[in-house]
Amino acid sequence: MQRVESEIARLIQEIDYDEVSRLFATLSGGKRVRAKLILKIAPDASQAPLLAAIVELIHAASLLHDDVIDDAMTRRGTVSVNATQGSKTAVMLGDILYSKAFTELVSFDKTIAKIVASSVTALSKGEMQDVKMADSFNDDEEKYLRMLYLKTATLIEAAAMAAAKLAGKDVEKHGVYGKNLGLSFQIIDDILDITSDEETLGKPAMNDYVEGKCTLPYIYLYQVLDAEDRVKLLSLHGKKIDTEQTQWIQARMHKHGCILQSFELAKKLSNEAMQAVADDKELIAILETMIQRSY
Ligand code: IPE
Ligand code: IPE
Ligand code: MG
Ligand code: MG
Ligand code: MG
Repeated sequence: MQRVESEIARLIQEIDYDEVSRLFATLSGGKRVRAKLILKIAPDASQAPLLAAIVELIHAASLLHDDVIDDAMTRRGTVSVNATQGSKTAVMLGDILYSKAFTELVSFDKTIAKIVASSVTALSKGEMQDVKMADSFNDDEEKYLRMLYLKTATLIEAAAMAAAKLAGKDVEKHGVYGKNLGLSFQIIDDILDITSDEETLGKPAMNDYVEGKCTLPYIYLYQVLDAEDRVKLLSLHGKKIDTEQTQWIQARMHKHGCILQSFELAKKLSNEAMQAVADDKELIAILETMIQRSY
């Protein structure tokens, strides 16, 4: 990981703009899940640290834009760039990181460059769908999962496929692994929004539904509520909710096992990921820590 961090530092320096270096230094690095995944798949490939740095720049750019889109004031346990510097700066910094990442992709094999670059188109389509779907209550689980695949899983899938290609490993199998890991990862993220607190998460808790995001536990809850409670749930959609309303939602979810049901799907998807790379203990370990994560 040390090599990935120095590659990231080098790329930022090459942008050759003090303001960017200063702003980038204020960002915390995050968990670096995508970079670690690449290094685990391609530990001996000389281009792996650069690929990992590129993917982390893309991921950081997507979060800068995501926090503008979601009006989020906290990120990675600190104030978001849009909160301290304004949305314009956050968007521009995101653009610079994205374009620097794309420039660096040129030094890779064409297949790899295409896999990674096209995942950013998919991610952006997913973000658009996420916003559009928040306009009204969505109770369609399939539609929700298709959006999750685009928004979160495609970049992780691309990272795994590109790393496999670098290492001369099975690209398709690693793609299945990355895709299911990504889906499972986002489902856990959605669960944590409901079950965890802001301090642990490093971003606001119980915020998805306020933003209009009907994540899996909400979809499952809607399915089991009676008519009267459905009306109540729908009336809270996309609104700032108080403690009592928050507790009402959490209690109903608990009673009907909606969190558990979502967790079961996350587990099922991560089992599918495991099967794709059945003999790779390190990749299986990544899945396990992810399923157990609390932030
Ligand atoms: C956050 O991703 C966005 C989602 C896809 C849920 P991470 O949870 O990997 O964010 P960092 O990089 O560790 O902050
Ligand atoms: C994930 O979506 C963001 C990206 C994949 C770019 P969210 O909006 O759920 O992410 P958080 O919860 O803000 O990290
Ligand atoms: Mg967000
Ligand atoms: Mg978002
Ligand atoms: Mg989230």
